[in-house]
Amino acid sequence: MSRIVFLNGSFLPPEEAKVPIMDRGFLFADGVYEGVGVLDGRLIDNEAHLERLERSLREIRIDNPYSRNEWTRLEQELVRRNGMTEGFVYLQVTRGVAERDFFFPQEGKPTVMMFTQTKSIANAPAAKNGISVITVPDQRWERRDIKSIALLAQVLAKQAAKEAGAQEAWMVENGYVTEGGSSSGFIVTKAGSIVVRPLSHAILPGITRQSLLRLSKEDGVTLEERLFTVEEAYGAAEAFLTSASNFVVPIVSIDGRPIGDGKPGPITRRLQELYLQMAREPAIAAE
Ligand SMILES: Cc1ncc(COP(=O)(O)O)c(C=O)c1O
Repeated sequence: MSRIVFLNGSFLPPEEAKVPIMDRGFLFADGVYEGVGVLDGRLIDNEAHLERLERSLREIRIDNPYSRNEWTRLEQELVRRNGMTEGFVYLQVTRGVAERDFFFPQEGKPTVMMFTQTKSIANAPAAKNGISVITVPDQRWERRDIKSIALLAQVLAKQAAKEAGAQEAWMVENGYVTEGGSSSGFIVTKAGSIVVRPLSHAILPGITRQSLLRLSKEDGVTLEERLFTVEEAYGAAEAFLTSASNFVVPIVSIDGRPIGDGKPGPITRRLQELYLQMAREPAIAAE
């Protein structure tokens, strides 16, 4: 099945989906995006992703081009046209095309684009075996709660991880872990509680994080929403990350130091299971 993408109201082959060079996304990274996981052909946590998209758009003062129902129908149509059962839907809205000038254009409309990426999530090697992370300085701006398409700091952080033989970078500010380059970061203490950084402008409010916290509470796991240092992470019993495109992934080493016994831990395994159950539950997942 050949790939189909979405651009400004049309479903097109990728080679026909063209955006002018004066698009403000291209010139200024003046736009926001979302990424929604797909399992068994269904969009996971889609309502929460669309709510975060609304918020990101509001924060940068772009009018949302679609209602939640319209977005959902378009996403579902894209998934269907690509015959995708497992993977990821990427949505992007920029301030549109205008002569280059910093001020918002008087007229014009947002550029809306979506594509899918087929990938295995539930049975991915990373989910089974865990991954390694490195720590790097957090070099981003101060509004990390907005899902901005300006991702240069994350590109550099994740490339540094790759070159060090790791799969993710944990960004660090004032000695405390903020989050992963494209994921939320968690540790599990020796006493068995989950520690995660509280929401603020310093991190993206991860949708998978939010669902996982709800599932953990329901399961009776102790939660500590507080800052944690890199040193504390080195000494943790377990560590893991969450994201829409990977769900829950065990972390088995940080900066080359094994976490716990260097294998995915039991609490992480339990949370992986709970998240998958939720994702496979049609009554909860956005249909
Ligand atoms: C910086 C950052 N933090 C956290 C996340 C995880 O968020 P979500 O679970 O909504 O995918 C992402 C996802 O792309 C991200 O880019």
